[in-house]
Amino acid sequence: MPATIMVNGVRHTVDVDDDTPLLWVLRDVLHLTGTKFGCGVALCGACTVHIDGVPRRSCITPIAAVGDSQVRTIEALHEVPVGRALQKAWLDNEVVQCGYCQSGQLMSAAALLAGNAAPSDDDIDGIMSGNICRCGTYERIRGAIKLATRQVGGRGDAS
Ligand code: FES
Ligand code: FES
Repeated sequence: MPATIMVNGVRHTVDVDDDTPLLWVLRDVLHLTGTKFGCGVALCGACTVHIDGVPRRSCITPIAAVGDSQVRTIEALHEVPVGRALQKAWLDNEVVQCGYCQSGQLMSAAALLAGNAAPSDDDIDGIMSGNICRCGTYERIRGAIKLATRQVGGRGDAS
């Protein structure tokens, strides 16, 4: 049954079943393949997007539950200041290894900084603990989040 969703500021009409996960709509219908499939059961965070600014696992979010909410994916993360700062910090800190988990990592980090301008290490670990990285980039991710925090005016040196 057709549904309309707002993704990155654009309204789309998609002809999918109500229980189709948002992840499949993003990747297979809208061809926004920056959002990754990892576990499919809300355990790895690879599929993280923002729904009305809140990080959500798109693999377990049925399209019918999205309604009129605003979905943001990695493809539009640069449109918000914390997203730009994080992406620059990711590059400056050379965070990425294979890269598979990284769009989900960035979306979780952006939601953290949007709500907390000066996160402590515990804040960072708490938010980021749901994003699994098989390459073990956690230390670099934490460093990049602190760097981005400084760039957007937060303390960035919390411990
Ligand atoms: S693919 Fe959604 S949390 Fe792993
Ligand atoms: S960079 Fe390879 S899984 Fe995280």
